[in-house]
Amino acid sequence: MDEKKLHELLKSLTIKEKIGQLIQLSGEFFDVKTATTGPQKKLGISSETIDLCGSVLNVSGANKTREIQDNHLKKNRIPLMFMSDIVYGFKTIYPIPLGLGATWDPDLIKKDYSNTADEARASGNHVALAPMVDLVRDARWGRVLESTGEDPYLNSQFAGAMVKGLQHDFDKTHGIAACVKHFAAYGAVESGKEYNSVDMSEQKLRQDYLPSYKAAVDAGTKMIMTAFNTLNGVPVTGNQWLLKDILRKEWGFDGVLISDYAAVSELVNHGFVATNREAAESAFDATIDIDMKSPCYANELQPLLESGRIQSERVDEACWRILKLKNDMGLFEDPYRGASNDAEKSQLLTPAKRALARKTADEACVLLKNDGILPLSTEKKVALIGPYSDSQELIGLWAVHGDVKDVVSIQSAFTEKLRDNNLRATPGTSILEEDSDYHGMGLTTEQFKNSLLSAAEKQENNHEVSTLCKWADVIVMPVGEHTVQSGEAGSRSNIELPQEQIKLIHRVAKFKKPIILITISGRPLVLTDIENGVNAILQAWFPGTEGGHAIADIIFGEVNPSGRLSMGFPRAVGQLPQYYSHLSTGRAPETSGHSSRYTSKYNDIKEGPLYPFGFGLSYSHVEYHNLVVNSNTMMKDEQIKVTVDIENKSDIPGIETVQLYIQDVFASVVQPTKELKSFKRVVLTAHEQKKIEFSIFPEMLKFYNSNCQWGVEPGKFNVYIGPNSEDCLKSSFEYV
Ligand code: BGC
Repeated sequence: MDEKKLHELLKSLTIKEKIGQLIQLSGEFFDVKTATTGPQKKLGISSETIDLCGSVLNVSGANKTREIQDNHLKKNRIPLMFMSDIVYGFKTIYPIPLGLGATWDPDLIKKDYSNTADEARASGNHVALAPMVDLVRDARWGRVLESTGEDPYLNSQFAGAMVKGLQHDFDKTHGIAACVKHFAAYGAVESGKEYNSVDMSEQKLRQDYLPSYKAAVDAGTKMIMTAFNTLNGVPVTGNQWLLKDILRKEWGFDGVLISDYAAVSELVNHGFVATNREAAESAFDATIDIDMKSPCYANELQPLLESGRIQSERVDEACWRILKLKNDMGLFEDPYRGASNDAEKSQLLTPAKRALARKTADEACVLLKNDGILPLSTEKKVALIGPYSDSQELIGLWAVHGDVKDVVSIQSAFTEKLRDNNLRATPGTSILEEDSDYHGMGLTTEQFKNSLLSAAEKQENNHEVSTLCKWADVIVMPVGEHTVQSGEAGSRSNIELPQEQIKLIHRVAKFKKPIILITISGRPLVLTDIENGVNAILQAWFPGTEGGHAIADIIFGEVNPSGRLSMGFPRAVGQLPQYYSHLSTGRAPETSGHSSRYTSKYNDIKEGPLYPFGFGLSYSHVEYHNLVVNSNTMMKDEQIKVTVDIENKSDIPGIETVQLYIQDVFASVVQPTKELKSFKRVVLTAHEQKKIEFSIFPEMLKFYNSNCQWGVEPGKFNVYIGPNSEDCLKSSFEYV
């Protein structure tokens, strides 16, 4: 409908109808087949609220959403909006975002998210509660799985690409709305512990943590979700400075702002307000339009209005934003927005979508170690030993709409490559051990027991492991974390592989056959004690529906690996948070004049990460030479050029990710020792040489000073170019 009519509709709504639009409830309230008394009672809302509610959480499927919409429209003149956690794929599941980050290929990821939008729309979804763009530097946090990593620049590239992908060609019949989350700084929760607090300077917030959300706003995200955490003592859900002053006023975001799950009522638990009424007022004053799954707006906004604590104009404003989004997506004309069984058939898990998922997983896997054993010849006798050998659990915790039955396991993909009698497999052990705290991870006793091997299976496995080790030319070991060990509420204080699997690796190592480790995980693991004992390590994350194929593509050399870490792998958990763009200290071990003891380091481990940010091997051998900056000085409003020669010294064509880092050597607020400012994915044929050029602009040299002003200061800048954040060529220039 045109905007005039929409305004008329808004005017004609009762206050109850308007407040209804500001409420989101989850699926159980709409299950037409079961009574709603249980959850209704639990949340303490009336049945009238359910009839008036404006949006539904995590219900999908064309039939189901159509049925709910039909029932709703019998009692309400405004269609429901369906929102779901569609974090890295809908039915076709891509690698977890930490893997997507490792592709360093935002254009590809944009296509993934655009395919995801098409699948999700066909199944009745209107909004994806994605992308999650929180910057993370502590791998203990389980939600690192959902992030593209530790770097503000790289994360911003992906944030923009994901939003544009989901909202591709956005109109009444195309794309779905993105809901960027979790604004802001959720990724910095203290000690990586889920739902914990965040404390940081405004400079750090603005320079490192806010850019990816800003990139998403600039890319036009229709919605934003607020974060659970406090920021400098003030919960984000009631944080006017963050939501009103920065997001709304400074950045001009006029889309829909939604709270996270029950976060409005949790303002009371935080100790920020005393009652649900105050919680509703606080979130509403901070301009949150939709209360996700708490009783606060439903029960408290009307009394707040009647007592004059909130104004009707503000209710109109919030309601208008929601009506406008519904209208922009054409829900008043077609409340199903094209969802149907036929649409699902033509969109879900098509061969083309699977092919893109495979290409993405190919690019997401990171080769961390290779002593030359890889790629494997298909003539070899291969033993697959490890709990992920024939597992379809390769999609990770947040692929809530995906089905593991659609997943290609590693074993089935290997079978396609090797002759039958050249492949044998055994799990060797279960993923988790018997003493795991499975209740804490959310597993029921039954689920946990089912995930363990029986005593007889164990015995048989032990025997199998020995037989296979003796038989094989090479042993490929798919090991990793259990799905429930990462994702929301998946924080861990120990981020090594589960103990039984470490024991299995040691056992297998005794047979002195080459070992290739394939690690499945939702986070960078600590692999320090394992890496020396194996010949190769392929970090495969949770690689998604086509994960098995991608792993086989790389292991047998059909694909030359190109993935680069978007988050470093720590040597020890005690190093966390660990990130490459740390500040200089007064006593850096490499440059300080002090004796080795009195420098900034841990005394019991080597400095730095085990595998740094930007790192990843390929089957090519690429060398870097001749870093040349075309001028020693850069004047205001000018740019300089920097070039480097790269050469593929091997017969194998590949993709090289050339990374440009800059350091502001002296500044009134101390700056990181290196910051990624640009990168290029360069295709190299066998023995090809290329000159790669980057432009450096003053904008790339800016930082937030102590007054939080964004600007550049004159002085010396170091320039680094290399294949990762550590192995770089170096030059410098002056900004005058
Ligand atoms: C998560 C959000 C998610 C929401 C709805 C919350 O617990 O933090 O990321 O979108 O639940 O499922």
